[in-house]
Amino acid sequence: MTVHTLLPDLPAYAELEAHAARLKSTPIEQLFEQDDNRTKVFSLNAAGLSLDFSKQLLDTKARISLLDLAEQAGVRQSIENLFSGTPINNTEERPALHTLLRASQAGKQTEKFREVLAARTRMRALAEGLNNGEHKGYSGHIITDVVNIGIGGSDLGPRLVTDALRPFHGDVRCHYVANVDPADLRDTLKCLNAETTLFIICSKSFRTEETLANSLVARAWVLNAGATTEDLDRHFLAVTSNLEAAEKFGIPPDNCLPMWDWVGGRYSLWSSIGLSIACTIGYEHFESLLQGAHHTDLHFKERPLDQNIPVLLAMIGVWYNNFFEAESEAILPYDQYMHRFSAYFQQGNMESNGKSTDRSGTKINYQTGPIIWGEPGTNGQHAFYQLIHQGTKLIPCDFLAPAKSHNPLSDHHSKLMSNFFAQTEALMNGKTEKEVSDEMAGKSLTEISDLLNYKVFEGNRPTNSLLFKELTPHMLGRLIALYEHKIFVQGVIWNVYSFDQWGVELGKQLAKKILPELHDEDLVSSHDNSTNGLINTYKIFR
Ligand code: F6P
Repeated sequence: MTVHTLLPDLPAYAELEAHAARLKSTPIEQLFEQDDNRTKVFSLNAAGLSLDFSKQLLDTKARISLLDLAEQAGVRQSIENLFSGTPINNTEERPALHTLLRASQAGKQTEKFREVLAARTRMRALAEGLNNGEHKGYSGHIITDVVNIGIGGSDLGPRLVTDALRPFHGDVRCHYVANVDPADLRDTLKCLNAETTLFIICSKSFRTEETLANSLVARAWVLNAGATTEDLDRHFLAVTSNLEAAEKFGIPPDNCLPMWDWVGGRYSLWSSIGLSIACTIGYEHFESLLQGAHHTDLHFKERPLDQNIPVLLAMIGVWYNNFFEAESEAILPYDQYMHRFSAYFQQGNMESNGKSTDRSGTKINYQTGPIIWGEPGTNGQHAFYQLIHQGTKLIPCDFLAPAKSHNPLSDHHSKLMSNFFAQTEALMNGKTEKEVSDEMAGKSLTEISDLLNYKVFEGNRPTNSLLFKELTPHMLGRLIALYEHKIFVQGVIWNVYSFDQWGVELGKQLAKKILPELHDEDLVSSHDNSTNGLINTYKIFR
């Protein structure tokens, strides 16, 4: 792996600082006035998507420098390394080969790909066995409900996809339990019957405390309902790379589907970790999801950087993160089914690029991964858009929407889309003093001047608009892969290792130490004063 020069030392960096200084005070409207073709030039139709990035604080010169920065940081070579299986996850000495999980059959005769195909065959058999009623529980009843027990990457991806593809659901219902808060499991089990429930324990490591704790209780629940230990094989499957631990738990290798160390947890929904998806939407649709992602992979691999949607999205993100001091990015899907999309990419981005040591082991002196957040439109409009429109922070936003709804209901979808368009327009154009005064015609001058500053919108708030025809499994695959690759490119620019997550370890270690201290009523004094105080207050309160 080639490690590039410090980001601020790359030649394009200084150019970008100059462009940013110039564009910070340029109204986007003015950029439109300077170029009649702006919408066309700053749009891209590819991979079944239409991306409009003309409402960005960007002009051609800045765009060229951003792409120069990508070249200078080695994005092209890095893309090649990603696909060829170079061990780019250096701190864990592994490649990151999630793209292989959705590769097409043609021309891939590697051992790894054969394993992927074998796993897909097993997933198909399991999903079909459930959907056609062949898979029965211990009392002979067909399985009606699947519970995915997993957390982080072993939960968020399958949950996002199952929710997003609700119109494609078959008869099998799917539930997700992640939190070690007992409410999560208890509330899920309350509405289920052990005789007709199948648990899929998803844990790459099979060491995750939350998942193991929930799985043990689920197991006891099935046994308490009348199943014998021999019956458990009909009710428990695991997806893991730790067969030994799964077997110790009581799941024999025949009931385990593979997960590989060359797949990062947050990139794993394409693997057997997606079994709950296949069970819920049917295997054919799961394949279609994979094909959609593969389509984006080809786009990402083959398109020149300037015509490459993930690269453009990544560089626009870098633009605001490193040159405009933006600290966060909002992802705003105008589609209720995509309500977990931002939550999913919160992990995707923040676990991947929330790093402050570069790939040569040096402490970083520039900004890396932003805070990612968002909610579906129009709900977000009635919650936090006030701050995006008139707050003191710059929050670049991605607006995403399908042109067609799965639910033709009155003119709801047109209403939804009118809000999408209105918001991006309002964020860019704002509302001037003159417009406010004109709107208040008939009021006294004092009344107008009292309210003027409150009613003015500065505008110039940047947005991307991503439109697609319909949210199908294929399209969802495309969209997810697109954002995955955006994260990858940004990791290259920020020169961090995007596929490890050492930052989640310390809290886990300390929790292990604290847990036994919570088992009695003795007051503790072995921590800092605040932590001692909190633990002791908890013991008194409980
Ligand atoms: O704690 C973070 C993490 O390691 C994630 O990266 C991962 O997706 C999640 O925990 C679950 O891990 P596992 O699949 O090994 O249970």
